[in-house]
Amino acid sequence: MDLVKKEARYKRIYSQLSDLLKKSDDSLAHKATISAVLFNKMDYFFWCGFYRVETDYLVVENYQGSVACQLLQNNKGVCWAAVIQNKTIIVPNVETFPNHIACDSRSKSEIVVPLRNSSGIITAVLDVDSKYLNSFDEVDAEYLEMIVELIKKDN
Ligand code: SME
Repeated sequence: MDLVKKEARYKRIYSQLSDLLKKSDDSLAHKATISAVLFNKMDYFFWCGFYRVETDYLVVENYQGSVACQLLQNNKGVCWAAVIQNKTIIVPNVETFPNHIACDSRSKSEIVVPLRNSSGIITAVLDVDSKYLNSFDEVDAEYLEMIVELIKKDN
């Protein structure tokens, strides 16, 4: 998708989600709604959903797409890299990412965006996979970071 079209689509999605998420104050309802809207509106999103941070692993929460790994072992893969490096990670080609965890071998590129509580601690990540190489760029990072900020914190 070209950048102008992508940005326009994200603007519409952001506006729609801003309205939808006012209907509850519940972070799980927010995550479920975000997964559904993104998966259905962004045609290159092959899988999207959330993993919650626990001490020794990440555990899957709401998602859309094919069946995912339920637990991600500590210090391995793209999701953990986002937690450890405390930033959004874009992987243009998952095969070149050391220790990438392939829940579905059809995933070719990936972006992972951290969610922080009101103290700035990462509590979860938003993970999006694409069946195409090089699907994600700074526009995805900017808007997905804005979208996760809509999620109710600390509940
Ligand atoms: N690829 C991720 C694992 C989660 S799935 O993509 C749904 C990772 O390397 O952490």
